[in-house]
Amino acid sequence: MKINLLKKSLGIGAIFLASTVWAESEVANKPVHGEYKDWRLLSVSHRLEKKTLRAILGNDKAIEAARQGKTTPWPDGAILAKVVWKERQHPNWPQAIVPADFAAAEAMIKDSKKYASTGGWGFAHWQDNKLVMHDKETAAKCYACHVPMKDHDYVYTFNALQ
Ligand code: HEC
Repeated sequence: MKINLLKKSLGIGAIFLASTVWAESEVANKPVHGEYKDWRLLSVSHRLEKKTLRAILGNDKAIEAARQGKTTPWPDGAILAKVVWKERQHPNWPQAIVPADFAAAEAMIKDSKKYASTGGWGFAHWQDNKLVMHDKETAAKCYACHVPMKDHDYVYTFNALQ
């Protein structure tokens, strides 16, 4: 009886331990989200060449403008966030591609005067909770690749949720 009980509690202990370890490594993979985790969705994208999934979110100013269709240009104060995860097949349904590890969170901040030389957009990224502006050189590269979308105010995303 005693031995059985011991076996049982050891078994439960092992399961508990295993689940704790699993839970911790899951947590370690998660970013410490900045404020963007409370923002609303504009769209999603799947980059085939980078094997990543993205959610494009907007702060209130951006969402308001998007819903009114006033995004050419986006208003000053609008911020777009692009949250990127590596892709993986769902373990129970391989045809479903779902997010794996967090990869990055990038931002575009509209201020037509301050960032006039890069289309009115400041380019930044989140480091943990902090929104950090890219240096001039990096921002110039970001901007250069967004130039083909000039007629769409340098933004690739088409709003999927109106
Ligand atoms: C090689 C081209 C390229 C470069 C360089 C690039 N982007 Fe983009 N960016 C894209 C494309 C394509 C999309 C739309 C598809 C997607 O979601 O990735 C996009 C989307 C975005 C979005 C969502 C809003 C939108 O325009 O759709 C943000 C925010 C963003 N990029 C920020 C950045 C930042 C910050 C940098 C520089 C560190 C950067 N990008 C550099 C090509 C680029």
